[in-house]
Amino acid sequence: MVDFNKKIDRSKNDSRKWAGRKSYFGKENLLPMWVADMDIETPNVVVEALKNKADQKIFGYTMENERYIGSLVNWVEKRHGYKLSGNKIAHSPTVITSLNLLIKTLTNEGDKVMIQSPTYPQFVKQIKNNNRKIVINELVEKEDRYEIDFIDFEEKAKDSVVFILCNPHNPTGRVWEREELSKIAEICVKYGVKIISDEIHSDLILDGKHISIASLGGGVENLVYTCFSTTKTFNLAGIQSSFVVFPVIKEKEEFVEELSLIGVHEPNSFCMDMVISAYNDGEEWLEELLNHLRENIEFAVDYIEKNIPQIRVKKPEATYLLWLDLRKCKLDDEKLKERLVEGGGLALTMGGAFMSHGFARMNIACPRYMLEEGLKRLKKVFG
Ligand SMILES: Cc1ncc(COP(=O)(O)O)c(C=O)c1O
Repeated sequence: MVDFNKKIDRSKNDSRKWAGRKSYFGKENLLPMWVADMDIETPNVVVEALKNKADQKIFGYTMENERYIGSLVNWVEKRHGYKLSGNKIAHSPTVITSLNLLIKTLTNEGDKVMIQSPTYPQFVKQIKNNNRKIVINELVEKEDRYEIDFIDFEEKAKDSVVFILCNPHNPTGRVWEREELSKIAEICVKYGVKIISDEIHSDLILDGKHISIASLGGGVENLVYTCFSTTKTFNLAGIQSSFVVFPVIKEKEEFVEELSLIGVHEPNSFCMDMVISAYNDGEEWLEELLNHLRENIEFAVDYIEKNIPQIRVKKPEATYLLWLDLRKCKLDDEKLKERLVEGGGLALTMGGAFMSHGFARMNIACPRYMLEEGLKRLKKVFG
C-alpha cells in the first residue's frame, strides 16, 4: 500500500507551486493549492528507473527507442481499450509545445479556432500567440454537471478550422460520454473541422470511462490529433514528456520536422526510462492514487457542503481539481483573490484565468492533512 498521506516537503524542490508563491501571489507563507501537479511522490518504480539512468553517468544526445512509443500503445490499449498505430505517434516535450505547433501547422493566420469555456488558459494563449481568432462555445451549467450547447457548437463549427477538445475537461472535471463525443465528431466531420484532442487527464478518471474521440470511427479518425502524456498521471511534469497521435504518418513526419526547426529533437535523457517504467509498471500505483483522490474529493465536497454554504461545488468525474463556484459572495476575482490570500493564506487559481469569473480552482492532489488545512482556511474566509 502506498501512503499518500505521509508528510511531504517541497521546500528544496524548485516547484512552481511552492517556490512561485511570492511572484504569483505576492506572499511567501501561503498554502499552495493552485498549479496542477501533485504534492504526492511519484511511484517508486519510476524513481528506480530514474536512479538507474543517473547511474549511467553519461547524458549525451539520445535516440528514440521502440519501447518508448510501444509503452504508450500498450498502455492506451490496456487502460482505454483503444489500439493506436505506433508509426503515427510522435514524441513532443510537452502538450503545450504540441498545441502551439499543431495550431501553427493546421491553420493559417486569422483562422478561427474553437474552444469551450471555462477553458484551460494555455488554449487561449497558444491561439493568440499564433494570431488565430478564438471562438468560444460556452459550456452550460446544469444541476449536477456542465454540458455542451450543441446548437451553438454547430453554428460556430461552420467556420472554425480547428476545435480544441479537452477530454476529460479541465477545470470542470467532465468526462465526455460516448453520445457527446459522437455528436462533436458528427458536426466536425460535417464541416471538416480538425480536432486537437488534449487527453492529458485521461488516466485520472474517477467516475466513468475515458473514450478517445479518435477511436469513434465514422471519419472523425482522419481529423483528430490526440495528445497523451504520463506527466499528470504520475506527477512527472518537471521532466517533460508527451505524445501526439496523428491521423496519417506524413503529418507526423512534418510535425517532427517542425519540432526540429525550433531545436527540439529526441527526448531528454531521463524521459524515455521515466515513461517506460510508468506505463509498464505503474498501474497498481495509479489505482491506489485514484482511490486516494476519490477519498479526498468525497471529504472536500462533504466538508464544503456542511461548512461553507457560500460555495457551490460538484464532484469532478476526472482530475484532481475542484471547481469552486464563489458567485454567491458577489465579489470580483481581484477581491476574491485578496480575501483568499490575505484572509486565508490560500493560493488558488482564480476563475478569470479560465474565462469564468467568480470561480476558483482548488487542487486536492495532496496528503489529507494538507487538504484539511486548505479547507479550514477556505472556511475561515467564506464560512
Ligand atoms: C488540459 C491540459 N493540457 C496541457 C497541460 C500541460 O501539459 P504539459 O505540461 O505537457 O505542457 C495541462 C496542465 O495543467 C492541462 O491541464
